[in-house]
Amino acid sequence: MKPIQFPKTSEQAIKLESDFGAQNYAPLSVVISSARGIWVEDPEGRKYMDFLSAYSAVNQGHCHPKIVQALVDQAQRVTLTSRAFYNDRLGAYEAYMCGYFGYDRLLPMNTGVEAGETAVKLARRWGYRVKGIPENQAQVVFAEGNFWGRTMSAISSSTDPSSFAEFGPYMPGFSTVPYNDLEGLEKALQNPNTAAFMVEPIQGEAGIIIPDSGYLAGVRALCSKYKVLFLADEVQTGLGRTGKRLACDYESVKPDILILGKALSGGILPVSAVLANNEIMLQIGPGEHGSTFGGNPLACAVAAVAIHVLEEEGMIENAMKRGEQFRAGLRQIKSPSIREIRGKGLLNAIEMNPNHPYSATDICYQFKKLGLLAKPTHGHIIRLAPPLVITEAEIDQALERISEAYKTADLSIA
Ligand SMILES: Cc1ncc(COP(=O)(O)O)c(C=O)c1O
Repeated sequence: MKPIQFPKTSEQAIKLESDFGAQNYAPLSVVISSARGIWVEDPEGRKYMDFLSAYSAVNQGHCHPKIVQALVDQAQRVTLTSRAFYNDRLGAYEAYMCGYFGYDRLLPMNTGVEAGETAVKLARRWGYRVKGIPENQAQVVFAEGNFWGRTMSAISSSTDPSSFAEFGPYMPGFSTVPYNDLEGLEKALQNPNTAAFMVEPIQGEAGIIIPDSGYLAGVRALCSKYKVLFLADEVQTGLGRTGKRLACDYESVKPDILILGKALSGGILPVSAVLANNEIMLQIGPGEHGSTFGGNPLACAVAAVAIHVLEEEGMIENAMKRGEQFRAGLRQIKSPSIREIRGKGLLNAIEMNPNHPYSATDICYQFKKLGLLAKPTHGHIIRLAPPLVITEAEIDQALERISEAYKTADLSIA
């Protein structure tokens, strides 16, 4: 059998995926064959600014040299031991993360959705053992518009038919309340069987939906009042993306369970984590939860450096400053297609006028022509989330490209 021949052109790469891949994605027609920092390049040598950052997994920039070095060094030593044995990287990484985020313990997983599943399991267990909920009666409440992945549990809590339709039956014991609505939440939390409320501090996939200021503090207060665990899904918003270490830091609230993923490895490999204090984390014992790859030494070595460079290289403050510059620039673009500009740090969105003939996808194709990659979230919303290493000059360059794309779009309908 001959070794695999990888394609040399964009056209070949796209054809192979469309002929042999499951069709569960509709990518923009661009092929990325190399990347560095905020820049990506296709096989033909065209360069683009990456304004998606792999859905905020590449906060530290593509192929960050220190993270890649940690990967290479560790890959030559040992990559996977399983948790049947100890390894010499996991404990130090756990201690580092617990110190940084202020929790007693960390449970390592791989993808964001696995971390969400883990948080729900912990909450149910805590509900039975600590809150005294009768067996199999625990309720977990989610916010409408939530997105935390594609497993059966994640889609069972989804209010988006494209996530859940025709995949039932669904996980029992889940319910939803409107996002950014403390009254609705309070009613759900009054149910003595409610174990937890899981929420994104800013809803990412729903279209960068920012709740009113005071919402997160209100969630914290209500969860404490009704003895319900506050689970913060910071998989997309965490690790500097919004200009703070965590988006919860905007209201100085500490969730009972913190869920992290994506940028925890700087986009190098899947690494996720759940953090909580002893009263919650120690409710799960040996053999009751785990993952073959979770906590592997390669992931721990990479994540330790990925977290360190965020702070050491000032990426979080940069996200705050560049975010302000970016939104100010976007607001200068006068186009009938734009309804709203919003965001925090470098998690931003342009909401398009829904009745406009140009769709968000059309605009993303204009961006692509001008050398900038972005993707719509929900039909008429474009998420703009470059790596946090973007410079002031690069933001200006991106603004020129975005402005140019809207000019072309508006000309075509004039
Ligand atoms: C807020 C949030 N939670 C969880 C997930 C799931 O992460 P993963 O795709 O790594 O399973 C995502 C993915 O986009 C997300 O945005």
